[in-house]
Amino acid sequence: SLPSPFPLLARAPVIPVVVIERLEDAVPLARALVQGGLPLIEVTLRTPVALEAIRAIASEVEGAVLGAGTVTEPAHVEASIEAGAAYLVSPGTTPAFAAALAAAPVPVLPGCASVSEAMALMAHGFEVMKFFPAEAAGGVPFLKSIAGPLPGLRFCPTGGIGPGNVETYLALPNVVAVGGSWVVPADAIRAGDFARVRDLALAASRLKRAAKF
Ligand code: 3PG
Repeated sequence: SLPSPFPLLARAPVIPVVVIERLEDAVPLARALVQGGLPLIEVTLRTPVALEAIRAIASEVEGAVLGAGTVTEPAHVEASIEAGAAYLVSPGTTPAFAAALAAAPVPVLPGCASVSEAMALMAHGFEVMKFFPAEAAGGVPFLKSIAGPLPGLRFCPTGGIGPGNVETYLALPNVVAVGGSWVVPADAIRAGDFARVRDLALAASRLKRAAKF
């Protein structure tokens, strides 16, 4: 069976989805998130410094459980793990890419947005997947509807989740955690306001979830 993401996901109910524009922000941002109780940091491979940011956080920030996000091609898998990523997250999954993700030596949250995509991932052995873009692709009603026909699956919905709707997601038994960028606002990072990030993380880390581990 595939490396299980459950032990990682048990650590926190929210995965901050981080975009690092300036390498020097990576370590203080990650420290603020760890201090705020959100160690499951997902650094997206969306900026030129992303892999260096993963490397810096992995080597310097004690307690961070670092993942690589926006993993969209097989080359990202090896590069992310080599940089220190302990898990991988993809926004979506083509059939060929699903095979590459299933072969990764670390836990993966492969992206899906439909029942058929979820079933294709199940066939590769995935039991937990990212549901993206959560709000745009059906949100809480989608997750409630899929629980009956696909009872073995668990989701990490991401995309459009924030303080106003996060509790309705975490109340679902098939939601193990949620991802989102609301705890890492771009303006706070730009301003170096890591105290604000820590406070947002603290509030998010106290959220209750219904899922059993
Ligand atoms: C992602 O890639 O998961 C999203 O950018 C995060 O979505 P959000 O910004 O709506 O939280």
